[in-house]
Amino acid sequence: MPEKIIIDTDPGIDDMQAIFLALLSTEVDVLGITTVFGNSGLDNSVANALRLVETAGRPDVPVVRGASRPILLPPRPGAPSIHGADGLGNAADRLPKPKGKAIGQNAANFIVETVLAHPGEVTLVPIGPITNIALAARLEPAIISKVKRVVLMGGSAFVGGNASAAGEANLYNDPHAAKIVFEAGWPIVMAGLDVTYRYLLGEDYLDLVSSLGNPVSDFMKEVFVFVRQRMIEWNSREAVPDLHAVAYLIAPELYTTRRLPCYIETEGRTAGMTVVDPRPPARRNEVIPEIDVILDVHAEKLRGLFLQRIGAFGK
Ligand code: BDR
Ligand code: CA
Repeated sequence: MPEKIIIDTDPGIDDMQAIFLALLSTEVDVLGITTVFGNSGLDNSVANALRLVETAGRPDVPVVRGASRPILLPPRPGAPSIHGADGLGNAADRLPKPKGKAIGQNAANFIVETVLAHPGEVTLVPIGPITNIALAARLEPAIISKVKRVVLMGGSAFVGGNASAAGEANLYNDPHAAKIVFEAGWPIVMAGLDVTYRYLLGEDYLDLVSSLGNPVSDFMKEVFVFVRQRMIEWNSREAVPDLHAVAYLIAPELYTTRRLPCYIETEGRTAGMTVVDPRPPARRNEVIPEIDVILDVHAEKLRGLFLQRIGAFGK
């Protein structure tokens, strides 16, 4: 049976790759895509999510409007230097315009209703600021024991932050939401920056994906124009953080995890930081909930899996 998932997202170039992989894989059943502010603002998140489901031939997957700002903090700026001003590499003009609309329900309500309709079966996959998930947990705490697990992109165990010295962007963008989610008590798998940095793409791989010759790869080709330019300007390779949250569900055998106590900092210069305690249990001075932290991935096999799924579209 495919694992039922809700993807909560701010698409996003890496969100795009994660969502295409999910929509084109039979191991998961995407019950909905809930959207959140983040890489480029909520309106772009909604429009991009609609583009993605339509391009993947899945307009039946509901797209839901969510939070436009963090729970306590002021609205956050996006990340135009990484994702383009529109979230998809400034390619919005060249990409198909969305035909559909977001459904007339708020993301937190959608999450609550969907989880209650399938108790014990739904996995939440947040790959943007984690606001909607926290709001849903506060709106109906009964979902906490009814969610199968939360598999999220966010945080960093041992490699520091990206949005700040200590904070990974998704949790940094709403640290108070992160605290609610990490303290809730549901099982958490964290695909953070540790595994992110273990899978980096070069221009050759962008070319390979772009050349698969179907509507999904054509879509990515337009977005990758921006990625390629940025990689040249920054002399870097491309990380795909969000991909791991979805790929872990599809092929967990490719990943190495470690069970670690983890808490969230919410204030000051370390806001959004995931603090893990790798010391042996006997040396820990307080009881902190443990989560599964993904630390490594079999990169070659993941590349192969992604190519195969995207290449199979329409066949
Ligand atoms: C996360 O931040 C966003 O820019 C990406 O889409 C990803 O979800 C990485 O820190
Ligand atoms: Ca994201």
